[in-house]
Amino acid sequence: MIEVKDLRKHFSSGILKKHSTKAVDGISFLMERGETLGLVGESGCGKTTIGRLLLRLLEPTSGKVIFDGIDLQQLKKAELRRLRPRMQMIFQDPDASLNPRMTIADSIAEPLKLWRKMGKSELKERVSELLEMVGLNPEHLNRYPYQLSGGQNQRVVFARVLALNPDFIVADEPTSSLDVSVQAQILNMMQELKKEFNLTVLFISHDLEVVRHISDRIAVMYRGKIVEMGNTKDVLGYGKHPYTNALVSPVVIEEDALLQGDMKPVNAFGCVFYPRCPFAAESCSKREPEMVEVEKGHWVLCDKI
Ligand SMILES: Nc1ncnc2c1ncn2[C@@H]1O[C@H](COP(=O)(O)OP(=O)(O)OP(=O)(O)O)[C@@H](O)[C@H]1O
Ligand SMILES: [Mg+2]
Repeated sequence: MIEVKDLRKHFSSGILKKHSTKAVDGISFLMERGETLGLVGESGCGKTTIGRLLLRLLEPTSGKVIFDGIDLQQLKKAELRRLRPRMQMIFQDPDASLNPRMTIADSIAEPLKLWRKMGKSELKERVSELLEMVGLNPEHLNRYPYQLSGGQNQRVVFARVLALNPDFIVADEPTSSLDVSVQAQILNMMQELKKEFNLTVLFISHDLEVVRHISDRIAVMYRGKIVEMGNTKDVLGYGKHPYTNALVSPVVIEEDALLQGDMKPVNAFGCVFYPRCPFAAESCSKREPEMVEVEKGHWVLCDKI
């Protein structure tokens, strides 16, 4: 469904544009239709940037994203626009995604009006259907976002996204602004909808428990790179990369400060994790590691393991 090839996004900043942040730095992976890939990693490692690149909400510095056989980079504006309904993004804060001056009914109807030609009664029917799908009641239709809870508003956001029958969804921390109990409800709803519509989902989160619950596979990101990728149980149960293991066992982190290491610049040719790595060898500072398949479908960005 999705093929990502050596994708890069470098942001330049500073007055003379001299500083460059390698937000995404040479990432490749495949996603099968119907799978959920969890993307984890500390704040600022480039998760949202990947999400936006996959939907081409952001121009890559280099590399390719192929969506259902279509190279997004080759598309003209109008062609890309036609593809938009098939790929959607959900953000952390439902309040920011909904227009506070629109009723719930109008919010859900908006994408349908924009993208699908529908008569009034058909539109009304479809809005009710979507409302039911995400577990809301007709009584919510004429309310405004401020009259709903955060969890209910996130359901409305899902209804808007589902309205267009998307194939691919990037969910960027979709539950992190919600209470734990509501989080679980939304995640369960997502699981059901995903199965029903065979959705392909990139699920971004820093919460490992949430990601474990929802993902078929997991990609662990560190400073613009995927350092480990594989089935959820392999990565979270039998992680190979020292960064993955530090993420998975938070107790150890506080003690050895593996994750609190400073962000000193890495030798451009070396491993990104070199400054923090307890197993680093001299050569790791000079040569960029390659992805190694340690078991079938389980990849690690380290050749010392
Ligand atoms: N438009 C931009 N211009 C310049 N730098 C940017 C821009 N967007 C992101 N960055 C930088 O790129 C890096 C990756 O940012 P990104 O938002 O992808 O991280 P993230 O993993 O989603 O973090 P978080 O978990 O905090 O949401 C950060 O260093 C960020 O400051
Ligand atoms: Mg982010």
